[in-house]
Order: sequence, then structure tokens, then C-alpha cells
Amino acid sequence: MALARFGVSLDEDLLKALDGFVVENNFPNRSQAIRHLVEKNLVEKKWQCNQMVAGAVVLLYDHHKGAITTKSNDIQHDYYDVILSSLHFHLNHDNCLEIIAVKGTAKRLTELSDKLIGMKNIIHGRLVMSRTD
Ligand code: NI
Repeated sequence: MALARFGVSLDEDLLKALDGFVVENNFPNRSQAIRHLVEKNLVEKKWQCNQMVAGAVVLLYDHHKGAITTKSNDIQHDYYDVILSSLHFHLNHDNCLEIIAVKGTAKRLTELSDKLIGMKNIIHGRLVMSRTD
């Protein structure tokens, strides 16, 4: 894709913050960092829409901590209409990997995954989704 150049004016403080962001995230330059921020913002905006999407919520947690299995189950029952299936793997004595296949509006799936990933004691959580049409 052809690159277009444009000038950006920023307050000094904001520019300092941008440079900090570049260093922290190992971006090669400011352009790359700005590209990342714009894309992230656009994707998140899309996810708030009523577009039909399908994907999976992936959760990793220690099942001993804070009745998390019960909580996860309670949340999933509130969203039974968008959950296709779920897999639970007992990874070792402590940790569980849960993969929940989902299909519904981007907005509802984002809401579900925010609740699951936002549970206390989640070690790692991620939602991936893609348009179905
Ligand atoms: Ni388990």
C-alpha cells in the first residue's frame, strides 16, 4: 500500500509521552507507534457495533483462587445465547485453560469477554473475533 505523509502538531508533553510509548513498546519510530494507535482505536470502535462476528475467548486461570470456575460458569450462563461451545483443559495441578467459542454481535461478545477477562485472578485472557460474512 502506498504511504501518505502528513504533518502532526502536538503539545510538547504529548510528544514526550509519544516518545516514551515508542521506547516502551520497541517501535522503530513515531510513525509506527501512531499507526499502531490508530489501528487499535479503529478496531476497538468496530467491536462496539452490531456486526455479526465469531471467535473465541481464551482464559487461563488458577482454579483454586476465588471460586473462579463458578464465577466463569455464572457469567457464561448469562450469555448462553452467544456461546457455541466451551473447552476446559486442566493444564496442571493448579491451572486451567478455557476456550469458549462464541458467535454473536461484536458488542455482546465484547461485553462477555470483558466480564470474563475482568474476573479477579485471571492470569491471561483474550478475545479474538472475525466477521462471519
Ligand atoms: Ni481445570
